[in-house]
This record gives sequence, C-alpha cells and structure tokens, in this order.
Amino acid sequence: MPLPSTYKQYIFDERPTQYITPTTFKSETKSTSDLKVGPGQVLIKVSWISLDPAMRSWLNDSKRAYTPPVKLGEVMRAAGLGVVAQVGEGSKFSVGDEVSGVVGWREYVVLDDKSVTELPTIPGAKALDFLGPLGHVGMTAYFGLIDIGKIKAGETLFVSGAAGAVGSVTCQIGKILGLKVVAIAGSDDKVEWLKKDIGVDVAINYKAPDFKEQVTAAGFADVYFDNVGGDILNLMMTRMAMKGRIVLCGAISDYNGKSKGLANYTSLIAQRARIEGFVVMDYTKEYPVAMKAITEWIEKGLLKRKFHIVDGLDAAPSALPLLYSGGNTGKLVVKVSEHEAIAKL
Ligand SMILES: NC(=O)c1ccc[n+]([C@@H]2O[C@H](COP(=O)([O-])OP(=O)(O)OC[C@H]3O[C@@H](n4cnc5c(N)ncnc54)[C@H](OP(=O)(O)O)[C@@H]3O)[C@@H](O)[C@H]2O)c1
Repeated sequence: MPLPSTYKQYIFDERPTQYITPTTFKSETKSTSDLKVGPGQVLIKVSWISLDPAMRSWLNDSKRAYTPPVKLGEVMRAAGLGVVAQVGEGSKFSVGDEVSGVVGWREYVVLDDKSVTELPTIPGAKALDFLGPLGHVGMTAYFGLIDIGKIKAGETLFVSGAAGAVGSVTCQIGKILGLKVVAIAGSDDKVEWLKKDIGVDVAINYKAPDFKEQVTAAGFADVYFDNVGGDILNLMMTRMAMKGRIVLCGAISDYNGKSKGLANYTSLIAQRARIEGFVVMDYTKEYPVAMKAITEWIEKGLLKRKFHIVDGLDAAPSALPLLYSGGNTGKLVVKVSEHEAIAKL
C-alpha cells in the first residue's frame, strides 16, 4: 500500500485547568519515512478513532487513575480502527487486514502485533460496531448491568446519559432482558429518540422544570445505571427500591471540575441498597460472553446503533468537548480516512 510522504498527528500540548480549549492539543506533521516497522509489528492506516469521556481525565496529572494520564508532548491516546498498510518480519497480519487497537490521534501508527486485534466478520455488524456495541461501549453496558446491576426481568432500570454511547446500549439491553426502562437525557430531541427509536418505557429530560416530579412518577429504581454523577445521582439516591443497586459507571458531570460530592446516601441504609463502581477492562477475559450475546442481538435486529460522526482528524480537538456539553447522540467517532472495505460495510 503506497504511503504519502507525510502524515498528521495531534499531541497533548497544554494541560486544561477546567474545560478543553483550542490550545489543549497541537497538530504535528511528520515524515512517513520515520515510521519504522520492526519484527512482529504492523503499520496501520487509521480509519476511525473513538472519542470517549475518560479522555478528559487522561489530561489530569492524576496519580491514582486506572488508566495512566497522557503526558504533555505525547500523541493523544484513542482507541480506533484501521487497515494494515505494512507488516514487519514475522507479523501474523497481512496488508489489508482490518484491525482495532489504541491508535491515537494520528493518521498512521506502528503497533506491536500483540496490541492489535483483527476485526472478525459478524453478519449484520459494521466495522464501526467495534467502537460501539461490539467494543468497550457494549462491554461496559453489558457487564455493568449483568455483573454489577444483577438485573432481573420485571425490574425497573433507570439509566442516565441514556442517549449517549453506553447509555443507549444499556437501555436496549435492559429492554431485551425484560426490564422496564426509564431513560434520563438532556434534551427533548434525545427524549423523543429514546422513546421512538430506542423503545424505552419512559424518557425524561433532566433540564425540564418538573424533572424531579417526572422521576417520582416513573416509580422506584431496582437498578440505577449512573453515567453522570452529580445532581442526578444525588436524586436517584432517594429513589432506590428495597435492595436496589446503583451501578457507578461514570460521573461525566464531574470530569471538567471539582466534584459536587455525594448527597442523600443515608437513604440507601433504609432501603438496604448498595452502590458499586466498576471498570470495564477488569472483564477483558469475559468479553467473549458479552460478544456472543450482543452479536446475537445484532443478528436478530434487536440492537440499534447510532454513530455521531465527525469528519477528519482535524475535527477531533473541537469534537471531544461535545461529550461534556451534550452535543452528541449515540457514539461519537472521528472518520480519519476512507478505507474501501471499512467504508462499504
Ligand atoms: N466504568 C467504565 O469502565 C466505563 C467505560 C466506558 C465509559 N464509562 C463512562 O460512561 C459514561 C458514558 O460514556 P459514553 O462514552 O457513553 O459517553 P456519551 O454518553 O456518549 O456522551 C456523554 C453524554 O453525557 C451527558 N452529559 C454531559 N455532561 C453532563 C452533565 N453535566 N450532566 C448530565 N449529563 C451530562 C451528555 O448527554 P446529555 O445531553 O444527556 O446531557 C453527553 O452526550 C461516562 O461517564 C464514561 O466515563 C465508564
């Protein structure tokens, strides 16, 4: 596969004090002749990158984060998809293979074979699904619900961040497995989409003046899948059913500033309820179980997917903040390059 003489990448250039700004990242143009493919390595032409809320926490100088921070001057980390453009001696890959890996914000990357996965062919699935329900997004929804939420048919499941990547898959798994699903999201358009397309039982706009009354009218939660933390978590603390389970998946309302802190937690005592965090990577060995279930749901047409696509690597720095302002519906991804096979899937 012929290479251009140069390629672009984005490095982390200035630590934000609160919100990501236009000077947080800086573009660099590099010579492709610097890309040396060693034994057991591949050169990947990047097609798609995933934008994820955790990226904001990677920009903090944290000591106890479960993923190490990105250092100043490093290429911004990101999961993504691509096509193998060159192989090193003894590599198990072939030119043209479609793969996933931690590719970063760049157009070309050299990775070791062991950190690259070939995309399997799954009837009814598109390549992009490996950044959605068949990737970390789907795994998070599945293990959060099954292992931490211990959901049972007939129960009531509340989901915040419901129109986002993890939230929209969580709502659908809840419906497929026979729960009543109450979705919470930040606009009337998202609420309509959740009701009409995603098929939840109740959808509530948390910016509506009568939000609390609508939550009360929806009943108590056996399981609350929390993607946002803050005020919504503090309200849901008071809305748990006996032996209820709060799944602490994420707290996006806290990612750009100081945490509001936990309130109302004493309500959990009377309800014998619990709250538990989890990190999806801890389930890596069990991913095949979730992949099998999610693949079947995709094949049966039970799982809808929505991607919010922004075009071109240059759009990544300004697209990432959409996650914190509610600008995305479904999974936010950047299309870095056209690849025939991936594009036609
Ligand atoms: N535990 C794990 O292993 C794990 C793995 C992956 C992701 N996560 C977490 O899962 C959550 C969802 O991630 P995702 O990739 O699916 O992102 P996403 O939901 O696609 O995008 C983020 C959404 O969060 C909502 N939001 C932003 N600020 C908010 C605020 N202050 N209050 C309420 N809602 C707010 C916005 O929707 P609205 O318009 O509705 O406000 C926005 O669209 C994140 O917290 C992420 O960190 C955890």
